[in-house]
Amino acid sequence: MHVLMVSSEAAPFAKSGGLADAVSALSKALRRLGHDVRVVMPRYGHIPESGLERLPFELDVPMGPATATAVGRGLKGSGERAAVFRGALPDSDVPVYFIGHDGFFAREGIYGSKAEPDYADNARRFSFFSRAAFRLCDSLDWKPDVLHAHDWPAAFAPVYKRYSEPAYADCASLLTIHNLGYQGIYPKDSFPYLGLPWELFHGAGFEYYDSINALKAGLACADVLSTVSPTYSREIQTPELGCTLDGLLRSRGSNLVGILNGVDGVDWNPSADDYLPARYSASDLSGKAACKEALQREFGLPVEPDKPLIGMVSRLTDQKGIGELFSATYGCVPRLCDDIDLQFAVQGTGAAWCEAAITALSEAKPNFKARVGYSERVAHLIEAGSDFFMMPSRYEPCGLNQMYSLRYGTLPIAHRTGGLADTISNFNQQTGAGTGFLFDHLTPRAVYDTTGWAVWAYYNRGEQLDAMRRRAMLLDFSWDAAAREYVSLYESVR
Ligand code: ADP
Ligand code: GLC
Repeated sequence: MHVLMVSSEAAPFAKSGGLADAVSALSKALRRLGHDVRVVMPRYGHIPESGLERLPFELDVPMGPATATAVGRGLKGSGERAAVFRGALPDSDVPVYFIGHDGFFAREGIYGSKAEPDYADNARRFSFFSRAAFRLCDSLDWKPDVLHAHDWPAAFAPVYKRYSEPAYADCASLLTIHNLGYQGIYPKDSFPYLGLPWELFHGAGFEYYDSINALKAGLACADVLSTVSPTYSREIQTPELGCTLDGLLRSRGSNLVGILNGVDGVDWNPSADDYLPARYSASDLSGKAACKEALQREFGLPVEPDKPLIGMVSRLTDQKGIGELFSATYGCVPRLCDDIDLQFAVQGTGAAWCEAAITALSEAKPNFKARVGYSERVAHLIEAGSDFFMMPSRYEPCGLNQMYSLRYGTLPIAHRTGGLADTISNFNQQTGAGTGFLFDHLTPRAVYDTTGWAVWAYYNRGEQLDAMRRRAMLLDFSWDAAAREYVSLYESVR
């Protein structure tokens, strides 16, 4: 099958979170199953031209008229040209086509910058990108059987496929929701630029309180929808977690499936992880103690092998439960640090208040240390060196970090929601069963109590915890299984 992945992120080229990992790993897994998968993404400013091949053609991308501000930013009144660069996903022959348009993409960030966190012209940037994907296929003379779009930036693609790309009428479209919390909502004065007739503002489902909602239109137009865990696929059809689109999602419920993400077993394997000072496996966990020591040293925590150490790696956004953890007024972590004999090692970037709060906590508490920043190496060290992994997400479409921690024998403390509910089973202190510590309602008190429970088990149920770690490490979260489910889904639509 020919599959075109349309995505604003793919690891390692551009990543703001798990979307990038998921798109790359799924593409490689589909390739291993023998399919002709290709990825198309923008060439952002930080992706160097060197190492990529510039293809000997440009794309003519017909768009509608731009607004006066856009023209002021150097865009033409209608239509744009794009360069195309080709690379490949690492350790694979999966081609990645980069759409080059400096006016749109050679900027500081993927979706925004420090000064402008959400670029005002994102609807134009990503509609242009989605439309360019079709012109790319024309130029390559390669027709996808399946157009697989990811999240709101690519959600324009199924709309174009349905309404303005007749040559692609017999290709199936799938839109995967990695996070319903981001919908791509922009003022409707960008709509003419999309190059679609005004009646499609309502007709294609863009209209959202008189603005453009890119994800909503994609959800209305794609042949089939998926999200990244079975539980999340049910939750988003409820008012509680439907982010105002639950009605639309219920109406499309028979075409919406949940397929659990996998873990890239090459990048995340404690028995062959180059980032770690020692390797270990389920049959011999001894190297984990060396990782714990290295983590305590790296973070400036007292080196104490028998003190429970809780790790966290996260985007610092409301979704991840950061208020319940770190809010100066109601967060539970300051009290946990005072009341309970434990340590914290946290790495993350995101909300300014939270970056400031974890920095202040690091100065105030000897048993709490945080790094504001992004580092793959430190993320691996935290996963390996911690005893527990903190993931109290308010909602979690799938979550990769808890699967990494399970593979590394680091037991998650988590909210039973979305993909966390599908991947972690709760500790049962009668039988010793389980792979983590779960609570059902996200409150500071629930996080406090569940952490206390985990620490109690650490001190009093060492053997059970040891068995849990080994059990967690042997769980199978392979992308191959997920890829096979996607293939059946592609086949069912076609
Ligand atoms: P989300 O995509 O919602 O952020 P996931 O758990 O699916 O959540 O994926 C997060 C991914 O981003 C993981 O690969 C994680 O290791 C990585 N990540 C997030 N923040 C950081 C950070 N500060 N440093 C290193 N890796 C990070
Ligand atoms: C999103 C979600 C996360 C998921 C990832 C990859 O970023 O927040 O739960 O694991 O996408 O699908």
